[in-house]
Order: sequence, then structure tokens, then C-alpha cells
Amino acid sequence: MIIANWKMNGTRRSVATWIEAVTSNINVKNINPCIFCPPTCYLEYARRLIDENGSSIEIGSQIVNYSFEDESLTGGISTTMLKDLGIKYILVGHSEQRNFLNESKNVITKKIEEALDDELSVIYCIGEDIDTKNKNETHLFLSEQLDVLAQLQPTHEDKLRSITVAYEPIWAIGSGLNAEKDYIVKTHEFIKKYINDHLEWGRLDIYPAVLYGGSVNLGNCEEIISSTDVDGLLIGGASLNSETFSKIYNLS
Ligand code: PGA
Repeated sequence: MIIANWKMNGTRRSVATWIEAVTSNINVKNINPCIFCPPTCYLEYARRLIDENGSSIEIGSQIVNYSFEDESLTGGISTTMLKDLGIKYILVGHSEQRNFLNESKNVITKKIEEALDDELSVIYCIGEDIDTKNKNETHLFLSEQLDVLAQLQPTHEDKLRSITVAYEPIWAIGSGLNAEKDYIVKTHEFIKKYINDHLEWGRLDIYPAVLYGGSVNLGNCEEIISSTDVDGLLIGGASLNSETFSKIYNLS
């Protein structure tokens, strides 16, 4: 799975140009979905262009909202609305959203549950900040973020296959400093082992894919994707250019 996360970038024109170029440049493999996450205001437009182009690109949403006890929420977007638009994937827990919206663990769990109820696939983002890394507390920090998944209602057990984990060290996001290969390998190994040993997945023999994100570019993508236990990439800045993104996809 290779994801283009455009964050707060783009215009109708650049969305259209990108979809057209990527559709003709990538060799889509069924085992490796190509997922485009444009800004929310362009989701429907992107959906329509992808359908008209007969493109194999899938669409993901960068955000979803949740309000406890159905309180009204001006500007909110629900999983049901996203499903209605034909969106298949949804990013939950991205560090920029966690920080900006001050998302609690409870809210993240609820977002995931609602997404699973609406049959959306969840990309659950986790990752440590630089202080945590420097204090050698990355594993503890990640295990606490992964424990959010242990809070899912037992009724969601059959839907655990719809969750993918994306490991994005915060210090690597947008900084131009990707994590070293060795660090990525060890961290992905830890994430997979923790999920297997401590969460329901292990009991059910489900092995979720774990993606890497954080300053992935054309120069480092091959090394990262070839690392043991790295099952895909979540790409921000380098996904904006259709040519660069297509090359990264084709190399992955
Ligand atoms: P980046 O962003 O590739 O620009 O570091 C990744 C992300 O935040 O998803």
C-alpha cells in the first residue's frame, strides 16, 4: 500500500493533473493499492475523476470527526458521509491531527470503531516525538498508542483485517530526515511483535500491514520499502509531484 497524503495542498487543477498523470504512469499491482488522500474539499471531485478515468487509484480521507453523544459539530465530517462519497480508506491518529485537534485516545478509538462500522479501511498512524526517541522510550510510547486498538469493542473483531498501521516518527515528518534503515527495521519488528503478543490480532492469526512514513522520497524509497517488516509507504511532500510519486510507486 502506497499512500499519497497531500495534507493542506493542491487545487482542483493540480488534483486533476495528478490523477491523470499517475493513472497513466503507474503499474498498479493488486497487492499494492495506490491511495490518494487529497484535501477533504476535493474528495468528491477526485472520486469523480478517478471513476471517469477508469483509474485504479483508491481514495482516502485525511480526516474524520467524532462527536460524543451525537453533539452537533459545525464543520464535522462523519464516516457515513465519507462512505457515501465512495471513500474506502481513512487516516486516523496522524500526529498533525493528534496535536492540532488535541485528540484523546477515546476519540481515536471511537473514530476507528465508526469507520469499521461503515466498512472503511483504517490507516492508524502512530509515532514518537524526538524527546521520546532521545530518552530511548520509543517502544513504551508506541505500545501505549497501539493499546488504543485493544479498546475496540469485541463486535469489531471480524473487522480487524481492515486496519493497517502506519509508523511515522514525528521528527521525520516533513523534516527531510527519514529514520535510518536499522531504526525502521527494529521499530517495525517491535510493532508487529507487540500487536501479535498483546492485541487480539495475535489470537486471530491476523497480521496487519505496517507502513513507514516520514520524509520518504525518490532517493530513499527503495531502501525503506525493501526493509524487513515494512509493508508500504505513507508519503507527504514527495507525493505532490505526480512524476516523483509514480516513480516511487513503481519502485515499491
Ligand atoms: P512527509 O509526510 O512525507 O512530508 O514527511 C508524511 C506524512 O505526514 O504523512
